[in-house]
Amino acid sequence: MSSTPAIEFDRVSVRYDRLPALEDISFSIPSGSFWGIIGANGSGKSTLVKTALGLLQPYEGEVRTMGFPPAQLGQQRARIGYVPQYAELDFSFPLQVIDVVAMGLYGKIGLFRRVTREHRRMALDALKRVQMEDLADRQISELSGGQRQRVLIARALVVQPALLILDEPTAALDHGSAEGLYSWINALHSEGEMTIILVTHDIGVVSQYVDSIACLNRTLVAHGRPKDVLSGDSLEQMYGCGAVLFGHGEVPHMVVSARDADRQPE
Ligand SMILES: Nc1ncnc2c1ncn2[C@@H]1O[C@H](COP(=O)(O)OP(=O)(O)O)[C@@H](O)[C@H]1O
Ligand SMILES: [Mg+2]
Repeated sequence: MSSTPAIEFDRVSVRYDRLPALEDISFSIPSGSFWGIIGANGSGKSTLVKTALGLLQPYEGEVRTMGFPPAQLGQQRARIGYVPQYAELDFSFPLQVIDVVAMGLYGKIGLFRRVTREHRRMALDALKRVQMEDLADRQISELSGGQRQRVLIARALVVQPALLILDEPTAALDHGSAEGLYSWINALHSEGEMTIILVTHDIGVVSQYVDSIACLNRTLVAHGRPKDVLSGDSLEQMYGCGAVLFGHGEVPHMVVSARDADRQPE
C-alpha cells in the first residue's frame, strides 16, 4: 500500500467569485482508507471533492491528490473513479447499460475511439462488481433509480480506480436501498486497497463502515474516527452544523439539518 496520502489538503480555501465556500482546510486522507465527508447542504462537500479532482482551483493553499497537484495528475487521473452528485447523464437517452459503463473508459480511450471487445469485457467486469451484469443490454431508461446508481458506480469502477469518490450516491434511493449500497461499498473496500471517499448526509449509517469522517461547515469542524468524533460533549458545538442525533442500532444516527446551511462558521 502506498504511503503517499490519497489526498492532502494544506490550508486550502476555495471561492466562487469572491464568495468563500471553503476556508483553511487542512487534513490528509491516507491511501487505502475509507472516509466519509459530512456536513449540511452548502457546507462545501462537493466543492472539496471537486478541488481534489482539479475541477476547481484553490484560492489559497495546496492540494495533493495521489502525490500530485491535481492539474499535474496526467496519467494518474485515469486511476480515479468519480461519481458526481448530480449525474450529468440524460437517462432518457437511448443507451444500453454496457455503453454507459464503457463511457468510464473514455478518459483512457478517447471520446471517439471505438469501444473494443476488451473494453466491453472490462465494462462487464465492472457490472459484475455491482451485480448488474444480467442487465448489461438493457436500456438505461428502463432501470430503477437504485439500478442506475449502480451503473454509474460501475462506470467509475471500470477504470479499476485506486481512488473512488462518490458524492451523495444515495440521494435518489430510499432508506433500504441506501443501506444496501453502503454495505456493498464497504464490501468493495474490504476487498482491496482502494481509497474510498463517500460524501453523504447520513453519518449514522455510514459511520458503521468508514475509518474516518470529516465534518465540514465551510471550515473543517471535526475529523477523525467516527467513535471519537461522535463522542464529544456537545455535537452542536463540535459540528456547528445543526446535528441531530437519534438511536440507530449501536451507532448514533445523525442527520445534518439543512436549515443551518447558511450559518456563518464560528
Ligand atoms: N458553481 C457555483 N457558483 C457559485 N457558488 C457555488 C457554486 N457551487 C457551489 N456554490 C456555493 O458554495 C457553497 C458550497 O457548495 P457545495 O460545495 O455544493 O456544498 P455541499 O456539497 O456541501 O452541499 C454553497 O454556498 C453553494 O451555494
Ligand atoms: Mg454537494
